[in-house]
Amino acid sequence: MFFSKEVLRAFTEGLREAGHTYEVGDLYKMGFKSKMDSEQHYREVGLDPDAPLPKDVIREQEKVDRADVLAFIYPVWWSDCPAKLKGWFDRVWTYGYAYYYNKNGERQTRIAVKKAVVICSAGHTLDYLEEVGIAESMRRIMLYDRLIGVGVKEAKMEFLGV
Ligand SMILES: Cc1cc2nc3c(=O)[nH]c(=O)nc-3n(C[C@H](O)[C@H](O)[C@H](O)COP(=O)(O)O)c2cc1C
Repeated sequence: MFFSKEVLRAFTEGLREAGHTYEVGDLYKMGFKSKMDSEQHYREVGLDPDAPLPKDVIREQEKVDRADVLAFIYPVWWSDCPAKLKGWFDRVWTYGYAYYYNKNGERQTRIAVKKAVVICSAGHTLDYLEEVGIAESMRRIMLYDRLIGVGVKEAKMEFLGV
């Protein structure tokens, strides 16, 4: 079994023991289409917050809206999340949802998640990832751009190195 599955199992067991409810969004199991097609690409660069969205994207945004806390569990692949998850951000964090600009040019968001936790397993040691700066660059991108940058109030990242 993949280590990330073990992490998911332990994490959800902890949630159950603590009496929390949760939904697992396994992108492979749900066959999530991570590839941005040209229709949605045109939508995203059109900067129209009310332009229609694909149904699978709406379903994912509704899932996020139901959550107080988001947890992302994935292996580090070439110093980032796997493309499957990167494509989830590309497609689900849409203009008009994750960010948009009001009439005064101020950046806004519709995401009201309180907290996010990111758990990444890695083939390197955490010491190595810290020493060469990869851990910090991953934190900056994942926490400050993809999470706090779109309105998540608090976010932290844990590396499970070898
Ligand atoms: C395509 C690929 C790229 C990887 N890139 C990295 C990397 O950049 N840094 C790292 O520390 N580990 C890297 N690894 C190792 C994985 O992070 C490690 O094997 C994984 O966390 C184990 O979890 P899993 O069993 O759920 O895949 C890579 C593994 C694969 C398959």
